[in-house]
Amino acid sequence: MPLSPPPPLGAHFLPSGAYGGRVVMVTGGGTGLGKSIALEFARLGAKVAIVSRSNFEAGVAAIKADGGEAFGAAMDVRDPASVAACFDAVEAALGPVDVLINNAAGNFEVPADRMSPNAWKTVVDIVLNGTFYCAREFGLRRLKAGKGGAVLNVGAPYAATGGPSTAHSAAAKAGVNNLTWSLAVEWAPDNIRINTLAPGFYPEKDRSNHSVEAGSSAANLDAQIAKRMQTIPGGRVGQARELGWLATFLCSDYANYLTGHVIVLDAANWLRRWHSTAPFEPIRESFDRRKREAEEAAAAKGGS
Ligand code: COA
Repeated sequence: MPLSPPPPLGAHFLPSGAYGGRVVMVTGGGTGLGKSIALEFARLGAKVAIVSRSNFEAGVAAIKADGGEAFGAAMDVRDPASVAACFDAVEAALGPVDVLINNAAGNFEVPADRMSPNAWKTVVDIVLNGTFYCAREFGLRRLKAGKGGAVLNVGAPYAATGGPSTAHSAAAKAGVNNLTWSLAVEWAPDNIRINTLAPGFYPEKDRSNHSVEAGSSAANLDAQIAKRMQTIPGGRVGQARELGWLATFLCSDYANYLTGHVIVLDAANWLRRWHSTAPFEPIRESFDRRKREAEEAAAAKGGS
């Protein structure tokens, strides 16, 4: 029997209005899991700033359609000047940011020997440097204002294990965990908390999901989910709202004593390696096989 399903979408366990009057900024919140997390904050009364390089409108529209308050602005997390300018824009529109969700990320599969220096740099710049630039900007502003706050980074389970075929992202996410521990100690005396939430497999039709196999499309996502369910100890994939609920708890007053944690929400999948992992296939071979299979599937679909 798999782990029980979660309560329905729209349910929440924090008191209604728990984030009333607070401003929550979600980087990369225009799509996918960032958007789902942003929606949960909005449902609890937060004024939500959706910031991303180009995709913020979809997140703003989703929150407004759900009856919430949202504002969108452009930010390139790799550019500290863009980060500062975006905080200014959000402050002008909604007020000072109380909660920062560092969700923006970039990733693609490529075996390390085929990864260009610029490919490595690009992902590390987005994931690790971007997380630091945003956290730093938030921290500076909260310290200057003499106000506390909460930061939540979106991590990855493979930060603890390594990520063959995504070495850049795994190394950067490991850096994010480490940054979480450093900043938690530095900022606790100033009432600023920081934690990291590492999601497992959360399929979303509207996202480019790094945990979905290379070359996947929405059309074959259901088949992948069915396959994945067999590999997860909890027997099912995650639902985005489950991440949203944990995120809203971690940044709330109910977690005021909780800082410096990395929490993996994946039904124990990252811990299961020993008993049930599939026979090992070298990463280059696995990458090439899956790419070939995806191309063959696409060709067959085009021909049918
Ligand atoms: N395989 C190998 N190398 C790749 C690659 C892939 N699939 N995608 C990008 N790269 C390399 C590029 O070739 C380039 O290196 P080069 O200059 O040596 O050729 C480098 O990475 C930068 O790529 P570029 O596309 O110019 O960077 P960008 O800043 O425009 O975009 C990403 C970077 C990560 C946002 C983009 O690759 C992307 O859209 N990825 C998929 C979506 C995604 O990451 N979603 C988030 C999931 S967590």
